[in-house]
Amino acid sequence: MPKQTLNDIDVKGKRVLVRVDFNVPMTGGSISDGNRIRAALPTIQHLRNQGAKVILCSHFGRPNGAVDEGTRLALIAKRLEQVLGDPVAYAQECIGPVAVAAVEALSPGDVLLLENVRFHPGEEKNDSAFAKELANLADVYVNDAFGTAHRVHASTVGVASFLPAVSGFLMQRELEMLGGVLTNPRKPLAAVMGGAKVSDKIAVLENLLGKVDKLVIGGGMAATFIKAMGASVGDSLLEEERVEFAQEVITRCMHWTVDLVLPQDVVVASEFSADSPTQVVDAMEIPDGWRIMDIGPEATSTFISELEDCKTILWNGPMGVFEFPAFSQGTRALGQALASMEDAVTIVGGGSTAEAVAELGLADKMTHVSTGGGASLEFFEGKELPGVAALMDK
Ligand code: 3PG
Repeated sequence: MPKQTLNDIDVKGKRVLVRVDFNVPMTGGSISDGNRIRAALPTIQHLRNQGAKVILCSHFGRPNGAVDEGTRLALIAKRLEQVLGDPVAYAQECIGPVAVAAVEALSPGDVLLLENVRFHPGEEKNDSAFAKELANLADVYVNDAFGTAHRVHASTVGVASFLPAVSGFLMQRELEMLGGVLTNPRKPLAAVMGGAKVSDKIAVLENLLGKVDKLVIGGGMAATFIKAMGASVGDSLLEEERVEFAQEVITRCMHWTVDLVLPQDVVVASEFSADSPTQVVDAMEIPDGWRIMDIGPEATSTFISELEDCKTILWNGPMGVFEFPAFSQGTRALGQALASMEDAVTIVGGGSTAEAVAELGLADKMTHVSTGGGASLEFFEGKELPGVAALMDK
């Protein structure tokens, strides 16, 4: 059932509580990828232009229901001010007298960021008293936190039962772009899956297998498929209990005429470290004592040429240990190739894939980079996200 959006509701002069996902990645105490903050701007600006009082709330990190100085939102308020080019008020509480006073001080068009909602145990328990206190701050609720839409929390689900609840523009775009891959993709459709573990991707593979024309598998999870083909994987991370599933995927691809593309060569290292000795070997002949760290050069060019005729490409998971420069070439080359495919719809899953694409400076060259890590995975598993289900139907 389609959900109501910001376009379906009058917000003029109203107090609007917007759940955003400002749980941004940090490196060395500073924000390393501000995409989630920038992605909330269309909703925030629309509300300001309509003369609404904008009350933003988010979680940050996992403080487990207690105040934690390291996960206050002060730094994020500052970054939001920079990208907005206007002042952002910041309340060091998300409910209670401090929050109420901060909301009362707002004029139409002003923006306020409330403190980390996860400082309260009621947030993750979806406690209705806590949800009601949040709701009491506003007249309307907008959920723009796609990245947290898979959580049943007070600020993502509970609050929607106390206020008129609609989706924001980011949420709407995520649902349209990711939904398009599942329901109405331009064909051929390819899924490129990577990352460390098959177990994280089982349900996604189950859901996508009947839809894709090509399935390309890289990253550490390739080891389990290589094992399923009967080869040894040396010291690579192997999920023994998933080998049977990988065999099933291989068989289903054959029966359903899905092109399954596995790496024919891999970069291996003798230890899991940035400066370990490395070599490129045939993927079916990984020596004992060595582990897969990246796809090899031949695999990289095969992956890219296999994707060249595809019209929709979904990419989820890095091709290697991207954080170590020596093992980033597969992810880098694949990212650059997708960025240059102007005829194709390129959809990048959130989390580590989005971070890699941002680090490569390629984010704005993709059709869409999701702001949801776990949320995009659950979406591609075919699950209804609770944060979306809670919104008003059209
Ligand atoms: C994310 O980064 O995936 C979301 O912000 C959700 O965070 P969580 O996994 O801590 O609920």
